[in-house]
Amino acid sequence: MNIIDIISKTKKSQQLSEQEIRWLVENFTNGNIPDYQMASWLMAVCLNGLTDKETVCLTLAMRDSGDILDLSKINRITVDKHSTGGVGDKTSLVIGPIAASCGVAVPKMSGRGLGHTGGTIDKLESIKGFRTELPFEKFAEIVNKTGFSIISQSGELCPADKKMYALRNATGTVDSIPLICASIMSKKLALNADCLLLDVKCGSGAFMKTREDAEHLARLMESVGTAAGKKCRAMVTDMDSPLGANVGNALEVKEAVELLQGKVKGPLYDVCISLAANMLELAGKGTINECTALAEDAVRSGRALAVLKETIELQGGDGRVCYDTGVLPKAEFSHVIRASRDVHISAINSEEIGMASLLLGAGRISKDDDIDPTAGIVMDCAVGDNISMHAPLMTLYSSRCSDFSEAAMRALNAITFKDI
Ligand code: URA
Repeated sequence: MNIIDIISKTKKSQQLSEQEIRWLVENFTNGNIPDYQMASWLMAVCLNGLTDKETVCLTLAMRDSGDILDLSKINRITVDKHSTGGVGDKTSLVIGPIAASCGVAVPKMSGRGLGHTGGTIDKLESIKGFRTELPFEKFAEIVNKTGFSIISQSGELCPADKKMYALRNATGTVDSIPLICASIMSKKLALNADCLLLDVKCGSGAFMKTREDAEHLARLMESVGTAAGKKCRAMVTDMDSPLGANVGNALEVKEAVELLQGKVKGPLYDVCISLAANMLELAGKGTINECTALAEDAVRSGRALAVLKETIELQGGDGRVCYDTGVLPKAEFSHVIRASRDVHISAINSEEIGMASLLLGAGRISKDDDIDPTAGIVMDCAVGDNISMHAPLMTLYSSRCSDFSEAAMRALNAITFKDI
C-alpha cells in the first residue's frame, strides 16, 4: 500500500478498502506518513467526502489507535452523552445527575474548551476544590456510588484523532461532515459506554449552521455508533440563541444548579429533560413518556441535585454550591447594558454572545490560555421579549478587564431589535 495511491483514490472519489484506511491511520499516527501527505488526503475528503462505509472504517481505525476503556467495573448500564457544543451549553452538568438519579450510570470524560467558553471540565473547576484528574479506579468508584462522575480525559485515548485534529485545524480541513463524525465518534467509542446519546447543535452558535448539515451529521453518527455495536441515538437541538441565560464558567454552574433546584424553566429546562429522557429510554428504563416523567420527577424531588452534591464532594469540591451558589467565585467588575428605547427582541446571535464572553476572559483562543472562571454574560432578555427603555438587556462580568467597551459593543450587536 502507498499513500500516493490512497490520496489519488479519494481525489477521484474511488472508495478505499478497510485495509487501506487502517493502514493510513496507523502509519499517520506512528509518524510514517508526514503531515503534508495526510493534509492532502484530508483536503481530498473535504472536497469529495467519504462513503458511509469508509466513515465507519475510519472511525473504528481511529478508535483502535489508543486505549479503549474497560467499564466492566461499573455495576449499572452505562450511558454517555456528547454535545457538539454551543454557547451556554451546560446540559452535561444537569442531565448526568438526572439520569444517574434514575438508575443509570453516567461515566463522563470531558475536555477543556477552545473558543467562546470553557468546556465542561473548565466549568466544574470553577467549584472550589473540585478535582477533574482522578485515577480510573477512583472514577469508577464514584460512578458506582452516585451514578455520575466527570473527569478530564486520561490515558492514551485516540492519539490518531489528536494528531489529525491538530492538522485539520492548521490546514482548513475541519469542516467536513465525515471527518467531524469520525473525530467525535472515535473518542466516544473509545470511552466505551453501552449507550450513546448525541446532541447535535444547530444554528448560529454551533458547528452546524444549517438544519440539513446537522441532520446529515446526526444520521451519520447514529449509523457509525450502531455499526460499532452501541445503542446510539442522535438528536438535533437548537443553538440559534444562547442556551439558557448564563454564558461563562461559574455562571453556567450557577444556572445548572438553579435548574436542579427547580428554579429554571423554559428552553434550557425543556432540552435537558428531553435529553435525559432519551438517555433513560436508550438504557431501557421505559417508553419516552415514562422516561420524561422520571426525569421531571428527578428534578422536582431534588434527587438529581443530591447526586450532583455527592459527586462534587467525592471529587473534592465544595458541595455547598448545590444549596448556596453564592460560594462560587464572583467577578470583580460588572457592566449592565440597558435598552436605549422600548424594543422587541427578534433574535440573539449566540456566536456573537460567545465572542463577547471570550473577550471578557471566559474562553480560550489557544489551548494554553488561562480562563477567568468568573467571566461571562447573563442575558436579562430572551427572543420574543419586549423590553422597556432603560431596562437591562444583559450584564457582563469579568475579573480580568474593567473596560467593557469592546465586549459590550460585540454583545449589543448580537441582538436584533424591532422598535415598539
Ligand atoms: N469536535 C471534535 O471533537 N472533532 C471535530 O472534528 C469537530 C468537533
